[in-house]
Order: sequence, then C-alpha cells, then structure tokens
Amino acid sequence: MTEVSILSLVKSYGKAEALKGISLNIDHGEFVSLLGPSGCGKSTTLKCIAGFEEITDGKILFDNKDISRKLPEDRDIGMVFQSYALFPHMTVAQNLAFGLEMRRVPRAEIKQRVARAMDMVQLTKYADRYPKMLSGGQQQRVALGRALVIEPAILLLDEPLANLDAKLRDEMRGFIRDLQKRVGITTIYVTHDQDEAMTMSDRVVVMFNGAIAQAARPEDVYNHPATEEVAKFVGNANILELPVAAQGAEGTLLTLPGGGTLNLPGTASGQAGSLMRLMARPEQIALVDPSGAQLGGRIAKRYFSGGHIEYHVDTDCGPLLVLGPTSQTVAEGQAVGLSFDAQRLWPMQGGVGTASGVAA
Ligand SMILES: Nc1ncnc2c1ncn2[C@@H]1O[C@H](COP(=O)(O)OP(=O)(O)O)[C@@H](O)[C@H]1O
Ligand SMILES: [Mg+2]
Repeated sequence: MTEVSILSLVKSYGKAEALKGISLNIDHGEFVSLLGPSGCGKSTTLKCIAGFEEITDGKILFDNKDISRKLPEDRDIGMVFQSYALFPHMTVAQNLAFGLEMRRVPRAEIKQRVARAMDMVQLTKYADRYPKMLSGGQQQRVALGRALVIEPAILLLDEPLANLDAKLRDEMRGFIRDLQKRVGITTIYVTHDQDEAMTMSDRVVVMFNGAIAQAARPEDVYNHPATEEVAKFVGNANILELPVAAQGAEGTLLTLPGGGTLNLPGTASGQAGSLMRLMARPEQIALVDPSGAQLGGRIAKRYFSGGHIEYHVDTDCGPLLVLGPTSQTVAEGQAVGLSFDAQRLWPMQGGVGTASGVAA
C-alpha cells in the first residue's frame, strides 16, 4: 500500500539544516498536504522527492525501491509549481505534448494522450490558444495537464493556487481534489494555507522548522492537535489553564474561576493540584445566560463576519474567542456566561504542570 517512504530525511544547505530527519509514509492514491509557515521546509521536502535537490542523509523509497540517487526524469513524478512555468510560444496542446516529445513517445500516441489530458483539465476548446490568452486559473490547469499527461505515479504540487484570487482558488481546490480522486494518483501538495490543506487532503502533515509536528487526518489535526503550535497554526485556539480538583476513573474534575467545574471524560492524566492546559476552538464555546454559567465574562469586541459573529470575551481565564450564530444578539459590554462542552476540550500534550509552573 505504501507508495512513498521518506526515511530520516536530512537536507542541509551548508551548516543550516532545512530538514532535520523527517520520516513519512504515503499510501497509493493518498492526497497528503505539507502544511506549515514559510521557511519550514515544505518545498525542500518536495524537491528532495522530485530529485531537484540532493539529499544530505536518509532515504526516499518509491514502492519500496530506493530512488534517493535517481535523476528527476527517472523518478516517475509530475510536478506543478506556483509560477505555472508554461512555454509562452507554444499553444496549450503543444505545452502538453512537449514532455511526451522529450520522451520520444510515438506521434499518434502523443495526440491521444494530449487529447485525454486536455479533457481531464477541461481545456479541450482552448487547445490552440497561447498561455497569454488564458486566465490564471486556465494557465494553472495547463500546468496540471502537463504534469498529468506523462502519466506519473506521483503528483507533486508546490503552492499551485497561490497566484490566483480567492474565488478562483476555491474553485480550483475542488477541481484538483475531484481530478485527483478520479485519476487516483498519489499526490503531495504543499501549502501554507490551513483551509486549503484541510479541505483537500486525506492527511495533513504539519511542519515547523524542518521537522514534522503532526501527520493526521484533517479532523484530527484540528480537534486533537499534537502541540499548541499545531493548534494555533491550523485555526484559532483558546488555551485554558485550569487546576485539577480530582482525578478519578471516570475522568478529571477541573475547577473554573468563580466556582464552576468541568468534568473531563477519559484518562487525561493530571494530578490533583496540578494545572492542565486545554484547547477549546471558538465554535466549541457557547454564550449563555450568565446566571449559573460555568464561567462568567464580558463582551469586549463583537465582529459580524457574514456566516457568524466573532466575540472577544474577557474572562477570569483570560481573553477568549467565541464564534456564535448570527441569530444571537449580544452587545459589546454585555455580561455573558460561557458554556464548554467538556467532551470536546482537548488536553494539550506537555500541558500538565504544577501550580508553581509547568513541569518538565
Ligand atoms: N537553495 C537554498 N540555499 C540555502 N538555503 C535554502 C535553499 N533553499 C531553501 N533554503 C532554506 O531552507 C529552509 C526551508 O526552505 P523551504 O523548503 O523553501 O521552505 P517552505 O517551502 O516551507 O517555505 C529555509 O530556511 C530556506 O531559507
Ligand atoms: Mg515553499
């Protein structure tokens, strides 16, 4: 099942380690995104897989065969870049045919395969146009078609939508995703946009500083982030630091300022008297009547953003961000209660500390 294996991959530029020994397995037909801030090593990882960069240490296997030392043209990959890198003096059809001509594919077969690839990326009626006569989205589809026409085993895309405007970017997300599923091609997609990674991928690989922080399904990365850094990168995260009142077989009893309590189900370990750090996403906190609420607060700021309302709430647990429905009418300055769903609070790894400070 495993198509790509990255084993303890190190890439150094002089003394700087851009990749610090990353390991990752990718299955046949899987769509995996590499997500992380600029400079974390996403493109370097892709270039090592493609063979455009020589690796410093570790191995890369395709279908269990070590391809670490192979030339890019012998690796059975197709690649799409942010800058479409189309040949301006060639038509759409000629751009697509180029890679096949280089590989000395017979003329009749080239014609067939180009026709098929143009159909895949929905550019058949633009076959005779030059790139400058196409929109940005169409040009990116030419780049995609050019990568697919060689029928590679693995498709690599490096921020392919970064140059498109927001609306077109959304359309192209769906287009690439559907096409990938239809063709069933193993895909590695680089982006710094968490929405893009989460909406498109089977699995999201979150990277910081040349290392993988978490590789998991989008739901898991969002709801169960491995670290606070991941929690904050993939969305808005409220971090609550609460004292543990008791730890029992049914769960952990936490005390809220003002006397409220939360019973955290499961086995998150926290000794009585220690502090536990928990993540709550803004849409997982509800604004309720202040009387008898788990936690009290006051609305500091309220922003209408179309689909929902964003509240910045001052509480004794610090400022919290809450998303509420537009049907709700709570004004700035108003006292509110906050309600948490204990089932969905996520204890942060390494977040268990003592009252005198976070333990090692
Ligand atoms: N050719 C290069 N020479 C020296 N340093 C490089 C080179 N390419 C990338 N780097 C460094 O490696 C790190 C990772 O870069 P890159 O993989 O491009 O990041 P990302 O794609 O995640 O934005 C950065 O610190 C970058 O400056
Ligand atoms: Mg990059």
